[in-house]
Amino acid sequence: MDSIIVKGGGELRGEIPIAGAKNACLTLMPATLLSDEPLTLTNAPRLSDIATMTALLRSLGAEVSSLQDGQVLVMSSHNLNNHTADYDIVRKMRASILVLGPMLARDGHAVVSLPGGCAIGARPVDLHLRGLEALGADLELRDGYVHAKAPGGLKGGTVDFPLVSVGATENVLMAATLAKGTTTINNAAREPEIVDLARCLRRMGAQIEGEGTSTITIQGVEKLHGATHPVVTDRIELGTYMLAPAFCGGEVTCLGGRIDLVGAFCEKLDEAGISVTETPRGLTVARKNGRIKAVNVTTEPFPGFPTDLQAQMMALLCTAEGTSVLEEKIFENRFMHAPELIRMGADIEVHGGTAKVKGVERLKGAPVMATDLRASVSLILAGMAAEGETMVSRVYHLDRGYERVEEKLGACGARIERVRG
Ligand code: EPZ
Repeated sequence: MDSIIVKGGGELRGEIPIAGAKNACLTLMPATLLSDEPLTLTNAPRLSDIATMTALLRSLGAEVSSLQDGQVLVMSSHNLNNHTADYDIVRKMRASILVLGPMLARDGHAVVSLPGGCAIGARPVDLHLRGLEALGADLELRDGYVHAKAPGGLKGGTVDFPLVSVGATENVLMAATLAKGTTTINNAAREPEIVDLARCLRRMGAQIEGEGTSTITIQGVEKLHGATHPVVTDRIELGTYMLAPAFCGGEVTCLGGRIDLVGAFCEKLDEAGISVTETPRGLTVARKNGRIKAVNVTTEPFPGFPTDLQAQMMALLCTAEGTSVLEEKIFENRFMHAPELIRMGADIEVHGGTAKVKGVERLKGAPVMATDLRASVSLILAGMAAEGETMVSRVYHLDRGYERVEEKLGACGARIERVRG
């Protein structure tokens, strides 16, 4: 298992290219199952999660060609010959559940393993199933698999989500494009990844209105055709790298970054004393004079503060002036980076979904362990500003969601190297 070694100190200066969004690509790829014509995605990120979704689609009989060093994916599922998504692939990546809705909508049957939990929580899929049942699906849970049938095809219906779920909104949105009649999704997720999916489906011939709001209406069509679609910029990678100069000083421009992708996050940066300027090339970020100020953060569904940037923000606030309170409202166990930051000298008290962070002068480098995707990158950011050397182990978590992080940060002056394990 690879590790990453970071030496603290030194400002960051330069430009960081932001890749296509992992969480958009992971729902755009299963959309190919809705049509027997090719779907091409450009600006695709080069990540291990994309490789996992590629393997899953291929196991179903879809063809997936990766071109231009992985930035272009050409997919075709005219040969769909297997409707079972096996546990050994699904357990590696929860987003695998997103093949359920498209397969069911297209061929009227699908068998998909339940994904199981993960480090940050139980992460049930009950809302996905409830949404598909509202479209007439007959679902049975057996031996750890969802056995789904819709012999006469799915029918449009009303889906009322009791809480906002990105994945459940995506599964139902995709399934509804081929359902007979009109579907209304109430309390839909509003994330940019949902908007991007709707735009791609519309390119394929789907009739969708309201994406980006809490109510999405879909008029089912007979068939969807092929399309080419650019994956939207990754707002979580963007937010992560926007924080880098806040940790160690300097100025960094995140190429392709747009304020509308990180609105609530930018408000918090401003409060903390970090300046963000929108330029034609992207977002330029610098720490205003002096120390970062403590701020309070509560994670919420978009357009609120993203849960996927909570760990990175906590790492920054460990050396802020004052005490910050972070509330994690989306997942039940998403503070696993706290004990690792405490090993680096942070002063953090966790009580359930609330973390109190009392700013210290400076963190000290230490051997730490990545526990999940976003926690791992927060430890690297902390290591860049800490005194001495930090070794982050188990960076396979990192590679799931961040392209070549040591190259992108190293190009701006970070003293960072990957040690092959
Ligand atoms: C997506 O996960 C993202 N993953 C997550 O990013 C992100 O943190 C999350 O949305 C919230 O923004 C992908 O898009 C692949 P949810 P998802 O359904 O869809 C509960 C990362 O780091 N829930 O919006 O699984 C759930 O337990 C990852 O890139 C149910 O109770 O998230 C959670 O508490 C981590 N029943 C809340 O809803 C369900 O059927 C929000 O989950 C579904 C979800």
